[in-house]
Amino acid sequence: DKGSHKHFMAKEIHEQPTVMAYALSHYTVTDANGVKPAPLALDFRDYDRVVIVACGTAYLAGMVAKYWFEQIARMPVEIDVASEFRYREPPVSPRTLAVFVSQSGETADTLAALRYMKGKAARIVGIVNVSESSIARESDLVLPIHAGVEIGVASTKAFTCQLTVLAVLAVMAARQTGQIDAAREGALMSALETVPGAMADLLATESRLGAICWELSKAQDVLFLGRGAMYPLALEGALKLKEISYIHAEGYASGELKHGPIALIDETVPVIVMAPTDPLFDKTVSNMHEVMARGGRILLLSDETGLAHAGQDVWERIRLPRVDPFVAPILYAVPAQLLAYHTAVTKGTDVDQPRNLAKSVTVE
Ligand code: F6R
Repeated sequence: DKGSHKHFMAKEIHEQPTVMAYALSHYTVTDANGVKPAPLALDFRDYDRVVIVACGTAYLAGMVAKYWFEQIARMPVEIDVASEFRYREPPVSPRTLAVFVSQSGETADTLAALRYMKGKAARIVGIVNVSESSIARESDLVLPIHAGVEIGVASTKAFTCQLTVLAVLAVMAARQTGQIDAAREGALMSALETVPGAMADLLATESRLGAICWELSKAQDVLFLGRGAMYPLALEGALKLKEISYIHAEGYASGELKHGPIALIDETVPVIVMAPTDPLFDKTVSNMHEVMARGGRILLLSDETGLAHAGQDVWERIRLPRVDPFVAPILYAVPAQLLAYHTAVTKGTDVDQPRNLAKSVTVE
């Protein structure tokens, strides 16, 4: 049942404040000292490294997690798409924690990669939405994301709930390995708890996207740029746009722009920059100026401070609530989804059943 929404995808986008809070409630405990990760049968001191394997949007959630684990917990993380990982036959050191992320829990390549890791990795963790799935059954530890049934082929709420679980794991790892103290742990967990409210505030401004998406719907090509943990979000924005609106879109790390893609820039290629106020913001602004100097049109997604610093020459702006940079990738998933959704609706494509795509890819 779509409720009052035109599509399942719209319903699932709008469910995110609720389901993210629900997911978080399963992975947190609150005591007199504040909010902490809930105890899990998982001790990161037992592992030297983490290998995350997944496909599509779930892979991009894993890629965000790589930034989190490396920055906060100082743990090395390898991330790969399952179809490459399984045939690459990588050597696996014994103190490896293998993490498989899958909404459906049935993706053939992800399952095959999991089977490859059996007997090689010290432990296999499945982060899934469907708890009765093959990946759940074959994992040593199952961490459900609690997103509820996802029907729209384009993954939305599963992505933000995957990120939520991975963020809690990164904080847990950092605390267990002594990289952060209790105060920092509390601050990071509190930052996570602000996201559902920020998502709701952002969703309340959705109607402002109409004019922007009407312009995007006329584009042949769109570029998405982001730095650090926002780079996977740029990839996710491009993936969502291409899969439901059929507009060619590419995500790039902002710093890679001058190594090739800048050749594409002219006034017909909108460039969507995802840049919350964070320590890398000024670098992204200079990349933006490189685009504008070549006649490119910038759509900037940032908070009030970032928008004010970016200057007057950007083509369009989307203002997001200001959050701790740690959790910005979760919040910025929502405008990425909304841009794809409204552009697709403007074009009249089949949003919930895009051509050539299946919800669960059970063949390789
Ligand atoms: C994109 C999308 C796909 C899936 C991918 C993995 O919107 O939905 O890229 O993320 O097919 O599926 P799961 O998570 O079920 O393994």
